[in-house]
Amino acid sequence: MNNRFFGHDLISVDSLKRDDVELLFQETGKMEKLVKDKGGDKKLEGKIIAALFYEPSSRTFSSFITAIQRLGGGFIPLNGMMNTSVAKGESFADTVKVFSAYSDLLVIRHPQEGTPKLAAEYSNVPVINAGDGSTGEHPTQALVDLYTIKEHFGEVNKLQILMVGDLAHYRPTNSLAKLLTLYPDIQLSFAAPEQVSLPKHIREFLAERKISFREYTDYKKILPQVDVLYVTRVKKEYMSEELYRQVQGSYIIDRSVVECMKNNSIIMHCLPRVGEIETSVDNNIRAVYLSRQVRNGLYLRMALLNLILGKI
Ligand code: CP
Repeated sequence: MNNRFFGHDLISVDSLKRDDVELLFQETGKMEKLVKDKGGDKKLEGKIIAALFYEPSSRTFSSFITAIQRLGGGFIPLNGMMNTSVAKGESFADTVKVFSAYSDLLVIRHPQEGTPKLAAEYSNVPVINAGDGSTGEHPTQALVDLYTIKEHFGEVNKLQILMVGDLAHYRPTNSLAKLLTLYPDIQLSFAAPEQVSLPKHIREFLAERKISFREYTDYKKILPQVDVLYVTRVKKEYMSEELYRQVQGSYIIDRSVVECMKNNSIIMHCLPRVGEIETSVDNNIRAVYLSRQVRNGLYLRMALLNLILGKI
């Protein structure tokens, strides 16, 4: 298969084709085996990634750092920019140019939508978007999520996927909804309080790709038909206190919700969760958010680094 990731940025899932996703997933499977059999290898020895995180992160940051370590490479780990010259007023352009001179790939998370795309213009090395703004994207998380769905069900087309919660400020579901349009028979549903419903640009994207979808306020009606229940966090950091008070707690997944679901369905959340899935659900066979979804984040990011840096 043609490796179209080689030397390229990953800013949005828009440019990805089914073949690209299949290639990435094939390599992700190999990375899981590699980690389990040998812990890693030295394929990326001599390569350095710079992780520039202008916003907090546990999983995305750590899995990229772990991924490069397991492949024998090095890293510049900036989880928060407050101890860099950004605090002295250095411009974004200068920061990007400096770290791209030190490294072979930049991973950037930023509170302003569009910033990773801007970084790609300043950078001499590929840029991966690790989450931008309140209505931007989180392409690697969506790829991890899609991989987890495919791993569980074997096939993605025709699945009934329901995304629930704050959909207005959630970049992983933006990217996942777009990515799922690669599967023409996918059945998409969304449930959110009106104030934080699906963003206009995602609705337009789905319409352009001729993917119909349904919206619910009472999602429990369709729960017995759902294969994937994807739950989001209410993003307090991106809204007023008043809006947070209005929407927080609108959707709580507890045992009574799970009991309505198909036996072979799964419950996903890219984490962190703040109360929207009760801990009593964690040991349910359908819950993959603290197990497969997290572990796949490492394997998929290892595969992606290999593909972009040309080491497959
Ligand atoms: N899933 C995710 O993006 O988590 P972090 O914010 O901890 O990176």
